[in-house]
Amino acid sequence: MAVIETRELRKSYGRIEALKGVSIRVEPGQIYGLLGQNGAGKTTLIKILLGIVRKTEGDASLLGHAAGDPYARKRVGYLPEDHAFPVYHTGYSLMDFYGQLYGMARDDRRRMIPEMLELVGIAGRMHSKIRTYSKGMKQRLGIAQSLLHAPDLIILDEPTDGVDPLGRREIRELMGRLKEKGHTLFLNSHLLGEVELVCDRVAILQQGTLVREGTIADLTRQAGRYDVGLADGQAFPADAAVKLGFAVAPLPDRPGRFEVTLPAGQTIDPVLRLVAEQGLSLRHLVEKKQSLEDAFLATVEGAEPGVDRRPKGRRGARPVGGDD
Ligand SMILES: Nc1ncnc2c1ncn2[C@@H]1O[C@H](COP(=O)(O)OP(=O)(O)OP(=O)(O)O)[C@@H](O)[C@H]1O
Ligand SMILES: [Mg+2]
Repeated sequence: MAVIETRELRKSYGRIEALKGVSIRVEPGQIYGLLGQNGAGKTTLIKILLGIVRKTEGDASLLGHAAGDPYARKRVGYLPEDHAFPVYHTGYSLMDFYGQLYGMARDDRRRMIPEMLELVGIAGRMHSKIRTYSKGMKQRLGIAQSLLHAPDLIILDEPTDGVDPLGRREIRELMGRLKEKGHTLFLNSHLLGEVELVCDRVAILQQGTLVREGTIADLTRQAGRYDVGLADGQAFPADAAVKLGFAVAPLPDRPGRFEVTLPAGQTIDPVLRLVAEQGLSLRHLVEKKQSLEDAFLATVEGAEPGVDRRPKGRRGARPVGGDD
């Protein structure tokens, strides 16, 4: 059973189409990242799953129940974006308030609250008023709140928003530990470098359309480009490779190394045969990768937040590992 599943999910706010038919599937135990520019529809998708806003068309389910189902909702921890906790609470009293809302027994609350605040690194300030917390401390408190009732699924909308680099790393490590414990995490983020470090799978939304989906490895692979190097002193048979239809270029910053680009539909194998036939010795062969940020920017380039300016024909999802 998928933890989250949407099929052709659509949402319009009046004339604004926030989601234009989005299908995703999140399996148990994954850390799944939903990426996209401001206004891409990330928060809308989460709000539909939790029953905070109503879908216009399509299907959405959470832990096997229709989106918004109260039973499923109880098994989910949620960190909203732009949460504003009442500042007259202390960290502890806020957690106690949420614990009661979740129906937790008093003893469980007493035991779990300090443990969760410790986990996010603010236990030392748990009896201070939230008014006195920094932005990052409030964010950590929000994450602790989302974990309190030991949910099966944790949904975090911009979990590291406002958190300093050290704190971000701590939150990443925390997410890793939660995954190890068997939790499923679903997060929204613009922080691509971080998403790359923590997520198993990502989906990229652009103006309400799913444009890419896959593992980080899938999305960052540069299909058809290899970095090739032979043993010291051996010359790469560039001319012969070019005759076979491959593009070959020396890598300027790596002496002796070449970038080999495959013609459409070809594999690297003919180049390997060529090397072997000429009695040369292969020392280095790596399929080239780009960062998730490069992959993301290549996808959303030129898009203004909230406005779809792409030509109509390019609005469908592009297959991962295509010709781009
Ligand atoms: N309550 C609302 N009424 C009208 N339009 C809305 C409403 N909520 C969101 N929208 C619009 O829906 C689109 C998607 O918004 P959403 O908040 O889902 O984006 P997002 O990807 O979470 O963006 P961000 O990265 O800025 O948080 C935007 O064009 C936004 O203006
Ligand atoms: Mg948002």
